[in-house]
Amino acid sequence: MTGLTLEARDLAVAFQLRGGDVATALDGADLTVRSGEIVALVGESGSGKTTLARALVGLQPPSRGQVLVDGAPLGYRARQLKPFRRRVQMILQDPAGALNPRHTVYDSVAEGLRLHGLAHGGEVSEEQQVADALSAAGLRPPERLFLRYPHELSGGQRQRVLIAGALALKPDLLIADEPVSSLDASIRGEILALLLKLRSDFGLGILVVTHDLGLAWNIADRTAVMYLGRIVEAGPTEEVVASPQHPYTQALLSVVPEIDRLDPVVLEGEVPDPTRIPRGCRFHPRCPALASGAAFPVEDACRGVPLPVLSASEGHHSACHLVAARAGHR
Ligand SMILES: Nc1ncnc2c1ncn2[C@@H]1O[C@H](COP(=O)(O)OP(=O)(O)OP(=O)(O)O)[C@@H](O)[C@H]1O
Ligand SMILES: [Mg+2]
Repeated sequence: MTGLTLEARDLAVAFQLRGGDVATALDGADLTVRSGEIVALVGESGSGKTTLARALVGLQPPSRGQVLVDGAPLGYRARQLKPFRRRVQMILQDPAGALNPRHTVYDSVAEGLRLHGLAHGGEVSEEQQVADALSAAGLRPPERLFLRYPHELSGGQRQRVLIAGALALKPDLLIADEPVSSLDASIRGEILALLLKLRSDFGLGILVVTHDLGLAWNIADRTAVMYLGRIVEAGPTEEVVASPQHPYTQALLSVVPEIDRLDPVVLEGEVPDPTRIPRGCRFHPRCPALASGAAFPVEDACRGVPLPVLSASEGHHSACHLVAARAGHR
């Protein structure tokens, strides 16, 4: 494993909908994931997390901006994408749907090896590579699972098989989309412990996509919070949790049971619709600070002045007029 730095630079994805509307699912993300680092991407359903993850692995060509691989722009020709796809593995959001119900565990894990021409001809046999990957994903003894089908596995085992399929290719980076959201609480901890072990054993970089800030708090070095296609706050997880800047982050944190030191903030208003992004700050129609009058004297800016794209790669920052005004007055 060689190490890899994956960057999104002002990355945007717009979907043309029937009827002529455009859904700007991702509207300028700036994010870096390095080998050995765990980064959490947090936000409500529909905030654009999966869209950013898919764009980062080259599954979704951007409508604006770039993906950089060790500083060089990602090429979208098959010949360029194939080696990249081996190095950056994505674990899809729904483990039941992501596994082919007619494939055995063995074939599911071997599939990537065959696709990338790594199954035969190397020093290690295909069977040994599959067994090693299943072991690394915590499925032991691996041979006992070779001939099982997905419906014969528990949810936790299915998630581990997906992780094994990624590990078989010896990636540098893993992007795990909601890796534990479909699992029982007791299994969640085991899968999170596995992700931490993969980072320390193999030096993997991991981007964990989750709607749960409590999960980010448990495993991530850095956390980026998304709202309606934008990263609105990012920083070292401890700083984001100890001193959240953005009213949206504060609201998300206030309902995390593990971090129960704030009064719960219930967000008012509609679920975000990426075809109708509000003017000014995109969070303003639901912002508790604006509703309570705490945004004085910047309310007009909140309602009318757009915020710049936030760099989520270094330091602790947020995209909020109120935060900017307070910082300016210090
Ligand atoms: N192929 C598509 N065509 C049109 N709109 C899409 C498409 N994919 C996603 N969207 C829209 O883009 C927005 C972001 O979707 P995305 O799946 O990235 O969100 P998410 O944060 O992963 O949500 P969840 O937590 O529910 O998985 C949503 O409003 C979604 O409806
Ligand atoms: Mg998603």
